[in-house]
Amino acid sequence: MRILLLLFSATIVELTSSDIWFQVFVKNVASKFHNNWRQHFFSENPSIRNRFKLTSNGTHYNSSDFIYPMILSVGSCLVHRNFKVARARYNSSITYVDLLNMNYDELPDDWSYENRATAQIACREVLRGVRQKRLFNRNFVETTSEKIHNAWIKRNANRTLKELILPYSYLSEIEKDKDRRALLIACRLFNELQLYRHFKTNPIHLIEPYIE
Ligand SMILES: *[C@@H]1O[C@H](CO)[C@@H](O)[C@H](O)[C@H]1NC(C)=O
Ligand SMILES: *[C@@H]1O[C@H](CO)[C@@H](O)[C@H](O)[C@H]1NC(C)=O
Ligand SMILES: *[C@@H]1O[C@H](CO)[C@@H](O)[C@H](O)[C@H]1NC(C)=O
Ligand SMILES: *[C@@H]1O[C@H](CO)[C@@H](O)[C@H](O)[C@H]1NC(C)=O
Repeated sequence: MRILLLLFSATIVELTSSDIWFQVFVKNVASKFHNNWRQHFFSENPSIRNRFKLTSNGTHYNSSDFIYPMILSVGSCLVHRNFKVARARYNSSITYVDLLNMNYDELPDDWSYENRATAQIACREVLRGVRQKRLFNRNFVETTSEKIHNAWIKRNANRTLKELILPYSYLSEIEKDKDRRALLIACRLFNELQLYRHFKTNPIHLIEPYIE
């Protein structure tokens, strides 16, 4: 009885700690993925300095901090003193956030959710891959990137124009790279954070890391 109980509690501890490490993994990948997107965006669009997007989770910003009237790409706004949040000038219940100048931790819930959802799939597939001792080759990168993209389609089917929603195989290489990067970041962080120790597996040996 006592041994059984011990075994049982050991299993619980095991489960809980690997859950915690999975959350750590996801959080780090989501954060790195967002920063990576910002860097790429800045280098591909050197003339664009901000990218304000609508958020439905902007009510917690203090109204008295919106002090600068400005015309933004989204219209006439009052801009927050941190320059990262704006409210429509004539409707203060409409809030925009500048995704390009926010760290992952600064993102409102609806936008961090997107990064986290992508990271979750990348991390899950990486873990499954190491556990099954898969080869981390081009084929693995492509099948996993397609899964990441399919999940994005599911999440965004009702939000984005139908014409913009293409299956993975129809995407340009540049578009595919966005999905591939999520996976490659997950592979790199798995090694860099030495997560293989906590998941009792080996580090990943990535064959052909063909994008940055
Ligand atoms: C964020 O917005 C979504 C959609 O409007 C809502 O369901 C959710 O409760 C909001 N979360 C917070 C923390 O405001
Ligand atoms: C909002 O900001 C004003 C001025 O800085 C401050 O007096 C007030 O306490 C703040 N309100 C909240 C809810 O933080
Ligand atoms: C302000 O925006 C909200 C959210 O889009 C909308 O529901 C509301 O009707 C708008 N109010 C006015 C006065 O236009
Ligand atoms: C998208 O719309 C379809 C049909 O209009 C609905 O069944 C589905 O639940 C919606 N999905 C989301 C994520 O809102």
